[in-house]
Amino acid sequence: MSIRPFVKGIYDQQIDELTGSREFKALELGEATRQEYDAFIGNVIITHLNSPQFLAFLYSVAPPAARDRLKDNMLEELGLEEETGDSHPDLLRKLADGAGLKGRLADFEQQADERLREVTSTRLLYGTLKEAGLSSMCEINAFEYMLSRVSGAIAVALEQHRGLDSDTLLWFTHHSVVDVQHAEEGFRSIDDFVEYYDFSEEDAQTIVEMSLRENTYIKRYFGDISQGRAAGMLRDDP
Ligand SMILES: [Fe+2]
Ligand SMILES: [Fe+2]
Repeated sequence: MSIRPFVKGIYDQQIDELTGSREFKALELGEATRQEYDAFIGNVIITHLNSPQFLAFLYSVAPPAARDRLKDNMLEELGLEEETGDSHPDLLRKLADGAGLKGRLADFEQQADERLREVTSTRLLYGTLKEAGLSSMCEINAFEYMLSRVSGAIAVALEQHRGLDSDTLLWFTHHSVVDVQHAEEGFRSIDDFVEYYDFSEEDAQTIVEMSLRENTYIKRYFGDISQGRAAGMLRDDP
């Protein structure tokens, strides 16, 4: 049994919603205000600043077949597998610095930590750790899959319309490369997880649906920007 097509179908639909949203198009076309670019950059930093810890949680419940893959991914987040030695949180700090947002970094860090607390509490909705693990795996892989497809375009937009240099944009350009492999491995790890922990296909799909019931890309990257707009109006349909 593979739930990959089911998971990928939801990811693809949500990526279309993200890239078709008014907010994303404004960033891409240079139509966003400076404040909106900075809010987006802040949201990316807040969303991903604790990524090593989320990967470490997945590693802690990794099924044997996926253990090495998740270990490598976690070490990569921590900057322990790279020549440069930059952890991904350090690349996000570099992004804040290069974008002139260093003064707001403490606030971003506080919000990221708050999110960690929130996510950890929300997971208690599930009855078992294996369900929480599958849910987390789906959400984390959702971002790796999306970034492998979209972060290159985001880097171009931020370079052209926000004037950021390539060093500042390293977090985006790095993920446009490494997350191609991480996303592919993530799909395999999800299937390994479902098999090892003996989920029925129906139960696995229910957890995937619950985990991805709202568009987490739009919520995390544009949540406060698009506040006040009805959920069904996020697409910029004619
Ligand atoms: Fe990363
Ligand atoms: Fe990754």
